[in-house]
Amino acid sequence: MTDTPPRRLRSQDWFDNPDHADMTALYLERFMNYGTTPEELRSGRPIIGIAQSGSDLNPCNRHHLDLARRVRDGIRDAGGIPIEFPSHPLFENCKRPTAALDRNLAYLGLVELLYGYPFDGVVLTTGCDKTTPSAIMAAATVDIPAIVLSGGPMLDGWHEGKLAGSGTVIWQSRRKYAAGEISRDEFLQTALDSAPSIGHCNTMGTASTMNAIAEALGMSLTGCAAIPAAYRERGQIAYRTGLRAVELVREDLRPSHILTRGAFLNAIRVNSAIGGSTNAQPHLMAMAKHAGVALDPSDWQTHGYDVPLLANVQPAGAYLGERFHRAGGVPAIMWELLQAGLLEGDCPTVTGRTMAENLKNREATDREVIRPFDAPLMDRAGFLVLKGNLFDFAIMKTSVISEDFRARYLCQPGHEGVFEGTAFVFDGSADYHDRINDPDLPIDENSILVIRGAGPLGWPGAAEVVNMQPPDRLLKRGIRSLPTLGDGRQSGTADSPSILNASPESAAGGGLAFLRTGDRIRIDLNQGRCDMLVDEAEIARRRAEGLPPVPPSATPWQQIYRETVTQLADGATIRGADDFRRISATLPRH
Ligand code: FES
Ligand code: MG
Repeated sequence: MTDTPPRRLRSQDWFDNPDHADMTALYLERFMNYGTTPEELRSGRPIIGIAQSGSDLNPCNRHHLDLARRVRDGIRDAGGIPIEFPSHPLFENCKRPTAALDRNLAYLGLVELLYGYPFDGVVLTTGCDKTTPSAIMAAATVDIPAIVLSGGPMLDGWHEGKLAGSGTVIWQSRRKYAAGEISRDEFLQTALDSAPSIGHCNTMGTASTMNAIAEALGMSLTGCAAIPAAYRERGQIAYRTGLRAVELVREDLRPSHILTRGAFLNAIRVNSAIGGSTNAQPHLMAMAKHAGVALDPSDWQTHGYDVPLLANVQPAGAYLGERFHRAGGVPAIMWELLQAGLLEGDCPTVTGRTMAENLKNREATDREVIRPFDAPLMDRAGFLVLKGNLFDFAIMKTSVISEDFRARYLCQPGHEGVFEGTAFVFDGSADYHDRINDPDLPIDENSILVIRGAGPLGWPGAAEVVNMQPPDRLLKRGIRSLPTLGDGRQSGTADSPSILNASPESAAGGGLAFLRTGDRIRIDLNQGRCDMLVDEAEIARRRAEGLPPVPPSATPWQQIYRETVTQLADGATIRGADDFRRISATLPRH
């Protein structure tokens, strides 16, 4: 038997480089400032970055500032050395004109940090919506061992004895307020009551969805995603994540081993089963692109549509994060899919075991919240993929189609799934708010509300505005939703069956640019079509008139973003950034 010498770590090129004594001295000396010793840094122990996404500017992730203490304990106990550093804050609810603009900026920043500094591995702290995809995108590009630590959702919110879920309660209250059923003060109080503790949104909005997806991809410890932020298990899994981060370096287990096509298809199926956010579509596309995995927009329909809804969690269901966690969380959902043969169980994961091994004995413990595969909340509950002369790609989340909506639009005898309506077109959300209640705008129950100028180029960043509510006068008559369509996104907490993420967007010359108020639109869910009933010659005539205007860029990054961004169908990534892959294979020069 021969002893293989320990693999030389990346960080040793900085801290223990015999060819560059001068540079080694320079790299070492300033870390002494906070009491680290040269012996530690030169011991050949793995240097583990903690990409800190928490700050006062990201309240959803702020408790990571405390959790990092337990991550450090784990890293130290496993023989590593932690170095914590801030990542670009991404606060969904507050960043104007949209936090989506900053996902690629956070990605770029993290790539530079992970590549240019002496890290052997990294703990990615995630929570609020885009903190998860931006971190995984960067880890995929750099390809050093990486593990996701979710921050976990807030405790369940309650208002007057009823569950009040993040975001979802705002969309509900907005309708009630417009219908004159609640006061402005009650609206505000309900929203405040939905946020009772540290943590991210407690609904299955984009934050919980993306953390579930990180787990489904195999990038976090089993059961990590759903543990509420305030539970003691959250600190415990932070510790275990730190321990495991060091072992990942020793095993040289990298994102490129984990982020396979099988892992992405698993994530798509999990997203359907949890009633996950429509934002999962661009984010998963973006992560796959940077991982070098071929994922096609049609995969959402092929692999994700025919999956039942199993999680009874708002907005598609009734409960919130605490019940979901206690019922078994993401592993219990995946256990159901595995038994049903819908999961690729041999995918490697950060635990060092396969996904199927991770899921042993993970059956749900509360069938009210996590349904058995053969008795789901809804059959075929994934995203429908649509195309036509208005766009080449858009999606519709079927798990939030209400009974009332189904009855009105989808189940007319003889032509189930086909409906036609008159378009009312809004150029951006200001235009919508200015005109939706205009008494001269003849919107009725046969109308389709359309918004454009809300995509990656138009907004810029792609805004969550497609879930437009009907005019107040219709809400007062009990019509709580109309079909909506647009080139923007909608919040993962929204309960609207919108057709969204339309690509190419209006500002990129997509068909939406040539739609006019009064045109008829036909939507055929069976054929996956959505078309304006306008003849080709007329569309050509309108095309010659040019595109609807969009606001100018207000910051340097907005301009750079617009010059580089792809469409939502392709993940709204930075064009060309996916040419850079596994870049840690080469060391940066001194
Ligand atoms: Fe941050 Fe929802 S606003 S998680
Ligand atoms: Mg959002």
